Amino acid sequence: MVDPARSRLLEQVRAYHHAQVPGPAPFVPGQTPILSSGATLDADDRQALVAAALDLRIASGGITAKFESSVARILKRRKALLTNSGSSANLLALSTLTSTELGDQRLQPGDEVITVAAGFPTTVNPILQNGLVPVFVDIELGTYNTTAERVEEAISPRTRAIMIAHTLGNPFPVAEIAELAARHGCYLIEDNCDAVGSTYNGRLTGTFGRLSTLSFYPAHHLTMGEGGMLLSSDLKLAKLAKTFRDWGRDCWCEPGEDDRCLKRFELQLGTLPAGYDHKYVFSEVGYNLKSSDIQAALGLSQLAKLPDFIEARKRNWRQLRAGLDGLPGLLLPEATPGSDPSWFGFIITVLPDAGFDVSDVVSCLERRNIRTRRLFAGNLTRHPAYIGRPQRIVGSLANSDVATERTFWIGVHPGITTEMVEYVIGTLKEFVASH
Ligand SMILES: Cc1ncc(COP(=O)(O)O)c(C=O)c1O
Repeated sequence: MVDPARSRLLEQVRAYHHAQVPGPAPFVPGQTPILSSGATLDADDRQALVAAALDLRIASGGITAKFESSVARILKRRKALLTNSGSSANLLALSTLTSTELGDQRLQPGDEVITVAAGFPTTVNPILQNGLVPVFVDIELGTYNTTAERVEEAISPRTRAIMIAHTLGNPFPVAEIAELAARHGCYLIEDNCDAVGSTYNGRLTGTFGRLSTLSFYPAHHLTMGEGGMLLSSDLKLAKLAKTFRDWGRDCWCEPGEDDRCLKRFELQLGTLPAGYDHKYVFSEVGYNLKSSDIQAALGLSQLAKLPDFIEARKRNWRQLRAGLDGLPGLLLPEATPGSDPSWFGFIITVLPDAGFDVSDVVSCLERRNIRTRRLFAGNLTRHPAYIGRPQRIVGSLANSDVATERTFWIGVHPGITTEMVEYVIGTLKEFVASH
């Protein structure tokens, strides 16, 4: 039954939103910040958050379940598990693969996981956190992804998994790498945090790997503030992942739900007494990586806008690419052949003979309030956290070094308008002409 007091409050929230955000502010070149990333939030999002708060949906429950099943359906996976961040989803993915339930298919300390040197740290950290050994390969400039050849060269008798992110929304050659993984009996995990809606050979990224992950941090295609997700169509892995996410417990009842299996007091597991409450039987050394319904409510409301968000990102990228084409001194990005990226950002490398360096162009842009970012960590192996850790490097990391030293990216998110993109293009053209 509709509660009139609740409906009235929600109408007031909508009115409050429109008073706060009366419409898009006029763009003032050089003054209005053109952010590299940022959430696009509307009155529906604000209402969804407040509605969940009014209903005191403070823990993970029905809204989370609806968000999970909706994302799974849209991204064409059978199961989705909400987590409190994309980093947690990555940790969950690799931890799941260490389960003894997987027998000799499980990852064990010292096993190798092939990954890419240039990218985000928490694509790699779960490898080390699980006592596994990262094997770093280089990327290509232009796509900023690795190649199947580089991955193949890195495969050794200890290789058990491949875990790679689709760089800034641009798919890595995922069909070829999935085929390699299958041929060598390895797991493929796709870090799809930056690439929701991208396709490779007409198929969505995140559907090639046994497991894939998403981030819902505000910089990403969809946001719930902090959040992430693990997706899989492998029901056994999905069940194990739920156990790892939810403290390591064996029981599959939702919190607050009792005896769905009708065996709550009938099992004998481990050396526990027969009939020990299944809600408190732990079959994995797990975590608590769950989120809450309040945040899932925002995710669900954002999900309705995903097609528009993806289209805006593609449009902004195309406009930048066409407007900057042929500009000397700058290496412009290229979509990986066979892909249709749902872009996260527009990445540029300053060529060695440009006559200016990356700090010159970045400071020009920043002075004009056009925000820039680096390709995350650049070459991770050069960071203090990774020096001296177990690792293997295959081939040269020369391009990862270029990404560290001469590469930056600018925004394409839906909050960026055609007018803003024109200003960015004009600024870069003017900068290059003055050198
Ligand atoms: C490729 C990639 N993986 C993982 C993450 C981590 O996501 P979160 O910030 O939600 O932990 C990020 C964050 O931006 C990312 O870009």
